Amino acid sequence: MKSTLLRQVARASATPVRAPTFTAATRGPLNQTEKATNTPSSRARNFSNGAILKEKAPKDDADHNKHDEYSTSGKRGAFKHEGQHSRTDNRIKVEYPEEDNLPASKPVQGRGGYHFKRTLASFSLEGRVGVVTGGARGLGLVMSQALVVSGADVAIVDLNKEEAARQAEGLMKHFREENPGAENIPKVTAHYADVSSPESVNAAIAEIVADHGKIDNLVTSAGFTENFDAIQYPFDRMQKLWGVNVNGTYLFAIGVAKHLMERKAPGSVVFIGSMSGSIVNVPQPQAPYNAAKAAVRHLASSLAVEWAHAGIRVNCISPGYMLTALTKKILDDNPELANKWTSLIPQGKMGRPEDLMGAVTFLCSDASGYVTGADLRVDGGYTVT
Ligand SMILES: NC(=O)c1ccc[n+]([C@@H]2O[C@H](COP(=O)([O-])OP(=O)(O)OC[C@H]3O[C@@H](n4cnc5c(N)ncnc54)[C@H](O)[C@@H]3O)[C@@H](O)[C@H]2O)c1
Repeated sequence: MKSTLLRQVARASATPVRAPTFTAATRGPLNQTEKATNTPSSRARNFSNGAILKEKAPKDDADHNKHDEYSTSGKRGAFKHEGQHSRTDNRIKVEYPEEDNLPASKPVQGRGGYHFKRTLASFSLEGRVGVVTGGARGLGLVMSQALVVSGADVAIVDLNKEEAARQAEGLMKHFREENPGAENIPKVTAHYADVSSPESVNAAIAEIVADHGKIDNLVTSAGFTENFDAIQYPFDRMQKLWGVNVNGTYLFAIGVAKHLMERKAPGSVVFIGSMSGSIVNVPQPQAPYNAAKAAVRHLASSLAVEWAHAGIRVNCISPGYMLTALTKKILDDNPELANKWTSLIPQGKMGRPEDLMGAVTFLCSDASGYVTGADLRVDGGYTVT
């Protein structure tokens, strides 16, 4: 917090301080004597700002002067760190790659063998059906796995249906291996949808209800980021970014809420936002993404209030920097970013997709029955400094 403030204060010194003295316009009406002579008496107060107070400060206040350089009273550019850390760098451009250029993700392996460790029953998702958009890869795939491991049936929704189907098979196979002799193997299915299209979303929801009979949980992980400075951002790409991240989240949420209300059933919806919805990442410029994720976060709060009467909870998970195919590619293209990013994270490390498994299970399950409208940040402490 202190360092953030210092940085902000250092930047603010770019605005020179003027020292206006307000007189007649700020005075009250003249009294009788003043009216007779048309001369304001000394009761009329001169307003002064901090700069004047500073001039009156004792000259031997060495401590005050020592700190001036990094305060708003310092000269612009006098402090060597001024504006060096909290700024975007327009040279960083990252276009979201074509599907073929990102490798497939792997489900999490080696989590300690068979399942026998006891945990709260309220964390179990047995008997539930969860939908995960963008579940064929990255964070969405691992969160799908978290729901499956917790006992839910899962519908993976993705633009890439083929990959979603391959991963759905893989998740069921993993479950069998980790739970030898289990009688009920969770059912995992794959469905095509472009989440930014209302028709496509409605068709997918109808298909999932036909396959699974119902939906209890929704996790919206379909989304992507790109880096262009704001002035050069191609408008069509910005519209696409908002279409997937914002419209896609909204469309799936209302589709699932409508289904839950028709069934008069409670449910839990989890939006995948980002810490970028609360802070501005540096140095890569990404204003539209940051704004889209702020929209996702506040959409969760707004729908939580709107749907509380129906027993539908809506929360947001805001991940920090997670190591996925896309962030790996960004780091391969811009190796210097690894040091920069981790230096801003109190835990000093990027997260892994499995760091979201507990958060998503908690928010989908009855363990979080009294949690709605919350933003759960999984960011190694990034947003608290
Ligand atoms: N990776 C990070 O560091 C990070 C950090 C914070 C937030 N997030 C957010 O988490 C979510 C998942 O990110 P990821 O890193 O796993 O990305 P990813 O690219 O690995 O996976 C995204 C998945 O969404 C699918 N998808 C994209 N557009 C779609 C559409 N229109 N309709 C349906 N599916 C679509 C893709 O096919 C892909 O399977 C995104 O919303 C992202 O903004 C990621």
